[in-house]
Amino acid sequence: MPTMLNRPRRLRVNPSLRELCQENQIQTCDLIAPLFLVDGKKVQQEISSMPGQYRFSSDMLMPEIDSLLGLGVKAISLFPAVEDKFKDSKGSYCLNQENFYLQTISKIKQQYPEMLVMADVALDPYSSDGHDGIVDAKSGEILNDESIELLVKMALLEAQAGADILGPSDMMDGRIGLIRQALESEGLKNTLIMSYSAKYASSFYGPFRDALDSAPKKGDKKSYQMNPANISEALKELELDLEEGADIVMVKPGLPYLDVVQAFKQNCHLPVAVYNVSGEYAMIKAAAQKGWLDEQKSMAEMLLCFKRAGADLILTYFAKDMAKLLRG
Ligand code: PBG
Repeated sequence: MPTMLNRPRRLRVNPSLRELCQENQIQTCDLIAPLFLVDGKKVQQEISSMPGQYRFSSDMLMPEIDSLLGLGVKAISLFPAVEDKFKDSKGSYCLNQENFYLQTISKIKQQYPEMLVMADVALDPYSSDGHDGIVDAKSGEILNDESIELLVKMALLEAQAGADILGPSDMMDGRIGLIRQALESEGLKNTLIMSYSAKYASSFYGPFRDALDSAPKKGDKKSYQMNPANISEALKELELDLEEGADIVMVKPGLPYLDVVQAFKQNCHLPVAVYNVSGEYAMIKAAAQKGWLDEQKSMAEMLLCFKRAGADLILTYFAKDMAKLLRG
């Protein structure tokens, strides 16, 4: 019998060897925790399609931030759930300097300066139409340039309130460059832009839209978010964001788009982020509740695989649970 020279299983014989040769690791400092904010006091309301995730009023959010920091999670991405009475077709409330979202950003940065705060740039939380840009009343078109004018103002207010990172999640053309120029001319040269560069028109955002009550009233988001069938187009969006001055580029959703994450890593020299979205969280939670999946193990495997695909950072509703698991 010929001798077998190659036995890949030799490297898998025991845990020490397996760990010695492990190619990728996930660390708590790679994680960004998305959090939902509401106006008011003493509110901590669970989101039914996202068990374990809450809408927090700002007073209740502070202890949550404290516990995230205690676990080593040093970045959050904040989304406002706005009451219907404050929503209109232009999302005007986003430009109200007294709004609870901007005030909370300032409060967090005063109380926890070491927590990196990422602010969302898009109209959907504030829009009575549930779209990320302004809808033309007659044609139903999502108006690109008119929307950007608002988004730039919104981005500046967020940066002035103290946001460290701006996250334009709206997918309008040209917004990264215009936000960057506005930041430069206002002297906000160190405010980062994490562009939602390749954001797909995905059905995995359902639970997030429940959390914010922000589903589009009419139509869908396919005229601005990308077709799930496309990857060349993702690279075109990446190229434009690099030219326009993005600091970090993102792929969203995560799980069904690992090829896009890998392509981003291979085609740029910026940190690549992936958004492990609400539907991906809900899938694991639901299967675990039924006893069909081991929640902790599937969470850890999923997050590790984002790293293997090339993600440097991961936005995930599992941030706190993963940090706890890593702490041991
Ligand atoms: C909208 C926005 C969405 C998410 C983040 N920002 C949903 C959408 O585009 O309708 C989804 C995040 C998630 O599902 O976790 N600006």
